[in-house]
Formats: sequence, C-alpha cells, structure tokens
Amino acid sequence: MRVFAYFTIAAFFLLSAFAAFSDSGIAAIRGIAPGSPILGAVLFEDTPGGLKVTVDLQGAPPGKHGFHIHEFGVLTNGGNDAGGHFNPAGKPHGYLPSDGLDKAHAGDLGNIEIGPDGKGSLALTIPGLTLSGGPTSVGGRSVILHAKEDDFGQPVGNAGPRIGGGVIVLKARQ
Ligand code: CU
Ligand code: ZN
Repeated sequence: MRVFAYFTIAAFFLLSAFAAFSDSGIAAIRGIAPGSPILGAVLFEDTPGGLKVTVDLQGAPPGKHGFHIHEFGVLTNGGNDAGGHFNPAGKPHGYLPSDGLDKAHAGDLGNIEIGPDGKGSLALTIPGLTLSGGPTSVGGRSVILHAKEDDFGQPVGNAGPRIGGGVIVLKARQ
C-alpha cells in the first residue's frame, strides 16, 4: 500500500513536470501582398531547454530575410499592424540565439536563408521564451518575414518591408 502511494506521488510529479512543457503552437505563413506565392509554417514547442522554433517556407524570394516575432497577432496594413519586434524587457535589437534575452529583443530570430528554389528552413531553440504564461510568451503574437536581410543594426535591423507573416496559435493540450 505504501509503495503504491509513493508511486502515485511520483507519477503525479512526473506528469506535472511534463505538462509544464507540453505546449505547442503553429503559425501558418502567408504572403502579405495580394497574390503572393509565399507559404509556410512555423512550429513552436515548449521544451525544457526553451522554445523550439521550426520554420519551413516556400515561394519566397531567394536570399536572406529578416525573421522576427512581432508584438501583435494582426497582419493588416501591410503587416505593420503587427507592431514592432516583441521586446517586453526594452532591450536593443540583436540576435537572440547568441545574445540572449539580456541583449536582444525577445523576437529577434535573425534571418532565414531562402534557396534558388524559393524554399528555406530554420530550427532554433530559445531559452527563456515560452508559448503561454509569463512576460516572454509568444502565443497570440505574430512571426514576420521581411524583404531584406537583418543586418543587426539599430534599432530594428534594417530588414525593410514585411512580405510574409502569420499569427502564432496555440494547439489545444491533449
Ligand atoms: Cu521583423
Ligand atoms: Zn529586434
């Protein structure tokens, strides 16, 4: 009986720990200009090491393009209604995977490189970002693809107009 009680308690804590990291989400990416062939998906997954971000795009212009999480989940007005880079801590612009949340905007995912076939992919895990809950959660915000490369200059990387994007939607928990 006592063994069963210990097992039940252990199972409860294991499940609780798992539930804390079980959020996942997706942003369906579309071109912002009417008739744009840009299409893709960004998957988000809360993991113990941070927020895992997996991007797959097609139909985009070849070359490097700035790719960020922006503050609001709205893509009207040429994508400008998405607001600025997600920046809850008031940091300068940077490259989140190497600069971290102390030295970059929480939305600074850098660039995605698109090949001659119009396709590109990217996989990052960002410590400190989450999908829901807390000041650095990205659910309900947007991801934005820019016309030009993010050169990491201030204040926002000189990446130019917004050519694609999508709203980050949380998947229902199982
Ligand atoms: Cu941006
Ligand atoms: Zn930024």
